[in-house]
Amino acid sequence: MVNAESVKLPAHYKGREQAYIKHSLLKAYLERLFMIVGRYHNTICYVDCFAGPWQEKSENLEDTSIVIALKIIEKCQKGLKQLGKNVKFKALFIEENQKAYQKLESFLTDINLQGIEVKPMHGEFIALRQQILDWCGKDSFAFFFIDPTGWKEAVEPSTLKPLLQRSNSEFLINFMYDFLLRTHTQKPFTGDMIEVFGQTPITNDMTALEKEEHLINLYRINLKKIVSSTDGIPRTAYVRILKPTKDRVLYHLVYLTRHPLGIVKFMEASQGLDIVQWKARSQAKQDKRISKSGQEELFTAYNHAPEKDGHVDLFIVKRYWLNKLTSKPAVFDIEKLSDMLEETGWFISDFQQAFKELEKDDKVKNLDAKRARPVNAVNFEKSERLIKINL
Ligand SMILES: C[S@@+](CC[C@H](N)C(=O)[O-])C[C@H]1O[C@@H](n2cnc3c(N)ncnc32)[C@H](O)[C@@H]1O
Repeated sequence: MVNAESVKLPAHYKGREQAYIKHSLLKAYLERLFMIVGRYHNTICYVDCFAGPWQEKSENLEDTSIVIALKIIEKCQKGLKQLGKNVKFKALFIEENQKAYQKLESFLTDINLQGIEVKPMHGEFIALRQQILDWCGKDSFAFFFIDPTGWKEAVEPSTLKPLLQRSNSEFLINFMYDFLLRTHTQKPFTGDMIEVFGQTPITNDMTALEKEEHLINLYRINLKKIVSSTDGIPRTAYVRILKPTKDRVLYHLVYLTRHPLGIVKFMEASQGLDIVQWKARSQAKQDKRISKSGQEELFTAYNHAPEKDGHVDLFIVKRYWLNKLTSKPAVFDIEKLSDMLEETGWFISDFQQAFKELEKDDKVKNLDAKRARPVNAVNFEKSERLIKINL
């Protein structure tokens, strides 16, 4: 459990808390990913397709995805070496803007990263797709970070197609929800919306939440249609990044993989992020209140962590379990867990807690657990057999 007091918003991120959440997720997920992938692949490529630097406040670019990724790569390369794995890491950074590119290039020339091949690439992402693929080579594992400033010629599955069809690849895509919500009903954008969503989205009479679910799910389905499934079924998950001082979604970070464990690790990273997001936003809202009223507030913005933040009502999760289980033993493994996470977007801990409570009420049973478990009622890695108890 992350303690709210232990989450500190670095000064460089003040006023752009959403970037801090994005970078925290990138950091948490990349570390998990590289430490797993490094056991099976000799070469790992990290590709930042819209690198920046952008809106950075730190001289040494510490508040950019560039430095965040490089630090994680360095850490993982060392960690893997300790496990006896000599993994070659390569990092490619693409930037179109001349001024930003110059900064990127001179930064990458000056840093000394032993054993990591780094390369800046100047130009428009869409024109450079083949060059990017050539740079990755055929057999390496590649992680593509797609974090543009808009959606056009960036996040459409047709634009990403050459990369999506590459084997051994994973993606983290910034789905610019705030923009897309505004444009998806506008006539001049009909053709563009078909590119993004695979159809003209019709969202009349939907609530804000229904609209969001509908649009993000259309996009996920459309993405998966393009992905080659030669090395596994494509799967997606996402994290909502909210506006710092308004209770509205700014964008979603959509994650795409062909590995069931990827979804599990991504959702673990996402759950850890929840408290970070909540605290950063509480602070931003408090700062806004203080600057409006001119009055200091007595308490820190994050004195009490809300228990429900990001979590779904356990009653709903229990109902889900009861619908999933029958009196016939069924194996629940990582693939099943990944299906459940992809379908619901709920946290793993909520599935565990709900199962534990149902077990206590003699409604379900884990046939492979020798005794009641205090935290994780089901060990999905061990492919345990679960049943519903019919009363
Ligand atoms: C949102 S910023 C990237 C932020 C960075 N990922 C981070 O988190 O620190 C997007 C960057 O992409 C660049 N850009 C915009 N359109 C581009 C294109 N078509 N090709 C390459 N870069 C582009 C912008 O100049 C900007 O620096």
